[in-house]
Amino acid sequence: PRVMVLFGGRSGEHAISCATAGGVLRAIDRDRFDVVAVGITRTGQWVLADDDPDRWAIRDGHLPEVEDTRTRVLLPQGTGDREVQVLHDGRLGTPLGAVDVVFPLLHGPFGEDGTLQGLLELADVRYVGSGVLASAVGMDKHMMKLVLAGSGLAVGPYRVLPAGRAVDAATVDAIVTELGLPLFVKPARAGSSLGISRVDDPAELPAAIEVARAHDPKVIVEAAIVGREIECGVLGGRAGAPARASLPGEIVVTDTRHAFYDFEAKYLDEAGVTLACPAQLAPDTVARVQDAAVRAFEAVGCEGLARVDVFVTHDDQVVVNEINTMPGFTPYSMYPRMWEVTGVDYATLVDELVGLALE
Ligand code: DAL
Ligand code: MG
Repeated sequence: PRVMVLFGGRSGEHAISCATAGGVLRAIDRDRFDVVAVGITRTGQWVLADDDPDRWAIRDGHLPEVEDTRTRVLLPQGTGDREVQVLHDGRLGTPLGAVDVVFPLLHGPFGEDGTLQGLLELADVRYVGSGVLASAVGMDKHMMKLVLAGSGLAVGPYRVLPAGRAVDAATVDAIVTELGLPLFVKPARAGSSLGISRVDDPAELPAAIEVARAHDPKVIVEAAIVGREIECGVLGGRAGAPARASLPGEIVVTDTRHAFYDFEAKYLDEAGVTLACPAQLAPDTVARVQDAAVRAFEAVGCEGLARVDVFVTHDDQVVVNEINTMPGFTPYSMYPRMWEVTGVDYATLVDELVGLALE
């Protein structure tokens, strides 16, 4: 089958999406799949891109970026038409031919949030991963918590600041009284910790909210949860392939310069963070993390894949932090590692994801 590996995009996670594509381009079995690499530039142009995984690696702190190759990749329109057309310098070139499935390796808004999934639905093209609604719910930390809590899963205490809500002294007081300190201030719709601040002093809260608002007018303030940061992969979720969970992994921030698992700790500072995979947890705790992960996946209505991030508190409760409908596949990412230790190697994982989309 022909697979369009699609990456880059308009969100702040552009470079991470490129690195994720690098991971998948390296792992995908080229004898089995005919791979077409398509990048989306930061301004939203779809271009033919290099399919060499090395081109998309994060190396020595350098973040990869899709450049405008002056080609334009045009999706088919509607049922029956499967031809993908390419413009070269504005002129129609040889059609790319039919694409069987798109692997949308995009993180963040305009890719992981249901907008791209809607476009692919309209074009009648199959794609890997969650559909429109699950993607949109998974992107919005407010909606996500409502859905998770509504399904009986434990989520931490939080407050939402809708777009435009002023942050006066009374609001700061009310938030700190309700949620305590430290606080985590986050854009409702973003990823890779972009725009997130840890606030230890109430006086820092208004500035932290402004930082988050630069990414999204809607902001969520979360109480800190004391516990271990555990992640769990979920795979499946279509007819005949019920969702199943991987062994969990653990994020251990070893360098105290990182106040939390921030963007730098995630992708630029290999020494500052350890990914313990599998996490050293009691078998009963593993089972409860896996159960919460599958329940979260089903509550949001995910398909294909997701990574569910939880806290295991000191009294051994599993509190769901969030679900990511297109988790990272970079060399620093937990999702493929967790499947590897569960017995599903990287190439098999990619194969299974594409297979699920083709069903
Ligand atoms: N948003 C990043 C890519 C992740 O969840 O892995
Ligand atoms: Mg996320």
